[in-house]
Amino acid sequence: MENLYVVILAAGKGTRMKSLDVSRSKVSFPILGKPLVEYVLEAVLPLQPQEIITVVGFGGEQTIKIVEKHAKYVWQHEQHGTGHAVQQAAHLLEDREGLCLVICGDTPLLTTETLQRLIDGHRQNHKDATVLTAMLDNPHGYGRIIRNDKGEILEIVEQADTDNENRKINEVNTGVYVFDNKHLFKALHTLGSNNKQGEIYLTDTLASFRKQGLLIGASVLKDHLEMLGINDRAQLAEATKIMQNRINSRHMRNGVTIIDPQNTYIGPDVTIGQDTIIYPSCTILGKTSIGNSNVIKTCTWIEDSIIGDGNEIGPMANLRAKSNVVGENRIGAFVEMKNTTMKKGAKAAHLSYLGDAFIGEKTNVGGGTITANYNGIEKFVTEIGDNVFVGTGVTIIAPCTIGNGAYIAGGSTINQSVDQDDLAIGRAYQVNKKGYAVRYRKK
Ligand code: UD1
Ligand code: MG
Repeated sequence: MENLYVVILAAGKGTRMKSLDVSRSKVSFPILGKPLVEYVLEAVLPLQPQEIITVVGFGGEQTIKIVEKHAKYVWQHEQHGTGHAVQQAAHLLEDREGLCLVICGDTPLLTTETLQRLIDGHRQNHKDATVLTAMLDNPHGYGRIIRNDKGEILEIVEQADTDNENRKINEVNTGVYVFDNKHLFKALHTLGSNNKQGEIYLTDTLASFRKQGLLIGASVLKDHLEMLGINDRAQLAEATKIMQNRINSRHMRNGVTIIDPQNTYIGPDVTIGQDTIIYPSCTILGKTSIGNSNVIKTCTWIEDSIIGDGNEIGPMANLRAKSNVVGENRIGAFVEMKNTTMKKGAKAAHLSYLGDAFIGEKTNVGGGTITANYNGIEKFVTEIGDNVFVGTGVTIIAPCTIGNGAYIAGGSTINQSVDQDDLAIGRAYQVNKKGYAVRYRKK
């Protein structure tokens, strides 16, 4: 089979995102924690292309950071249109035999299956160019697909260049195409910018193909929601809802109970085991893996963490990056964890901050316990052994090690390590003054 190359167009300015950060690229905006262009990249990767080239421009540095692991990039310093954008990849691609898939970096909902179907159709029908089209009730804003009576595609006419007749056409260009690579770059060289927007239109390559007697095909999108491009924050929210629905449906089909899927936000890379129950308003993002039979209660946030089996977490727990909850643990209300491992059966049931810490098996961390891990400059580690009992309201000033089976008295501030099975009390002695309150009130 011939080689496949991919060009992702991501140079455009995201003016309508109205960001304060003018150097921000539109395709870096996230959906459920992942940048838009990364969804496009991940839809393309399973097609096993020889090479992926991202065309970057506005906010290019940011876009490069996202794509560089899987794709090369070329700069388009001034944006003179989609055809001009693809031309920027000419020095890398124009001599290559094979197919070139062109796709936009701001359409995160397109699936690998759709792209595969487009390419398969192109190959089976021996076309030189195949465009992914969609039938829309309201085609306004999109390029229209112009066909003759035989149904052959003649050209694409942009909204700005439409007349009364072709404005009525409901079949639109999704902005995704597969071309014979060499013919694509040859045609691009011949394009002008004699149109309403004064741009070099990638879409004009089709008319050029037609003139040369090359064959143009179309693949019609089954679910037109897939083509949704993100131009403003309302479309960002719309796409988030669709992605959320896809992700949550997948987990539910795999045996996860999600009480209120409309109100549960799970990132695309999160894995969750069977019989785990997720209550409403939880957000679970990043490279998080969650095992079987957990109960994750309302309003819990989990990010880049590993959760084993049989834990009870929340309500209102905050598990920041590198929290490792091994199994059969209890993390209660208003407990925050960061870079902390909690071994099997340990508990922190109420109101705690556990940062840069190891908590041993079956250890009980009392309500209001804080690991003071930061001195304003550096971070330090707290190590708590197995079967330790930490009373309530304890501050442990790291670095600090507490041996297995130790007892820490409630209200203590602990700044020296505690040996195995010892009791540590670090607080001022209490003084009771007989009848003082009565005398005070008389004053
Ligand atoms: C384009 C198509 C239109 C189609 C629509 C689908 C053209 C001429 N028109 O229109 O037929 O219906 O997409 O959404 O191609 N970009 C660059 N450099 C540029 C210009 C654009 O990288 O100089 C990138 C943008 O960042 C974006 C993509 O190309 O990701 C599409 O550009 P956009 O300006 O949105 O094209 P449309 O006018 O929507
Ligand atoms: Mg657009």
